[in-house]
Amino acid sequence: MTFRTETGTDILRAKQLLDNEEIIAIPTETVYGLAANAFSEKAINKVYTAKMRPISNPLIVHVAGKKWIYEVAHEISEKAELLIEKFMPGPLTLLLPKKKIVPDIVTSGLPNVAIRLPAHPVANKLLELLDYPLAAPSANPFGFISPTTAEHVYSQMSGKIPFILDGGKCTAGIESTIIGFKNDMPVIYRLGSITSSEIEDVVGPVTINADTTKTIAPGMLKKHYSPRTPLLLTQDLEQAVNKYAGKKIGLLTYNSYSPQLPEKHQIVLGKTTNMSVIAHNLYSAMHTIDNGGYDLIIVNKLPDDGIGKSINDRLTRASTL
Ligand code: TXA
Ligand code: MG
Repeated sequence: MTFRTETGTDILRAKQLLDNEEIIAIPTETVYGLAANAFSEKAINKVYTAKMRPISNPLIVHVAGKKWIYEVAHEISEKAELLIEKFMPGPLTLLLPKKKIVPDIVTSGLPNVAIRLPAHPVANKLLELLDYPLAAPSANPFGFISPTTAEHVYSQMSGKIPFILDGGKCTAGIESTIIGFKNDMPVIYRLGSITSSEIEDVVGPVTINADTTKTIAPGMLKKHYSPRTPLLLTQDLEQAVNKYAGKKIGLLTYNSYSPQLPEKHQIVLGKTTNMSVIAHNLYSAMHTIDNGGYDLIIVNKLPDDGIGKSINDRLTRASTL
């Protein structure tokens, strides 16, 4: 099935398509999602097909309000409640035991459902109009860079979906932090917009699941979030640029331009060391530089702290060299 993909701000049109078991792109504060009625197997199947995603990779269920969390999940622990109170709505995804109402295809047969209450006025308005939650992965083909503008979605998904609901550029810019529990201990399965220390302030010590071999959360797969152009992540920009001197290099830096290459071949992720700003600009910069006709993208590793750690995580998985 091919579509003439339209972009617009008509929320009622978005609702109508979703009610008809079609899939559409929606904005959230983290990245754009490819949304479908979470209770419709037919609609969910379309998501997997359009995204070219293996059905072994489950989808996050986006809900309109906290009361919905109790409709789709049960056995919600005290720690989970604390996280819900503190971070929802917001860029947090919680893995909780699923109720039967959630089709197995949404969780790829896993016992937990991933739940998120986004904080984006357009997403929230749409969700409130619906009488079902929205299952939505990021609106990019499997393995590629997540979209943070309607234009990014269009360039990656046009022809595959009927409608992109435009909500402007995503504020957070990287995906939600995914948290589950093992014997009531919080475990971070994907680093994201909320830092591990913010989580620890609420529920005490957390562990980070760094096992990239199991597919509990394929966003933690070793290779993911990748541009088509080879990407090298380095601590030593000067050495890397010299090593690949014969190649056409595009550079992603932060805070300031590097003196090593002409400025027109560089994108400064933010003339700042504020990692929230860098996260906001990251995927846009990656999309732009990926389309710049370079042989190689070299990226400066960021200070490995707070959101910087989440950004480095994405860049490590995006790197191919
Ligand atoms: O910020 C975000 O989380 C965005 C926006 C659109 O909400 N969504 C997003 O979805 O990043 P996606 O599908 O690209 O990444 C979700 C990750 C995947 O790695 C998936 O495997 C994992 O969450 N996941 C989803 N449901 C799960 C479940 N029931 N158990 C374990 N992992 C799950
Ligand atoms: Mg994704």
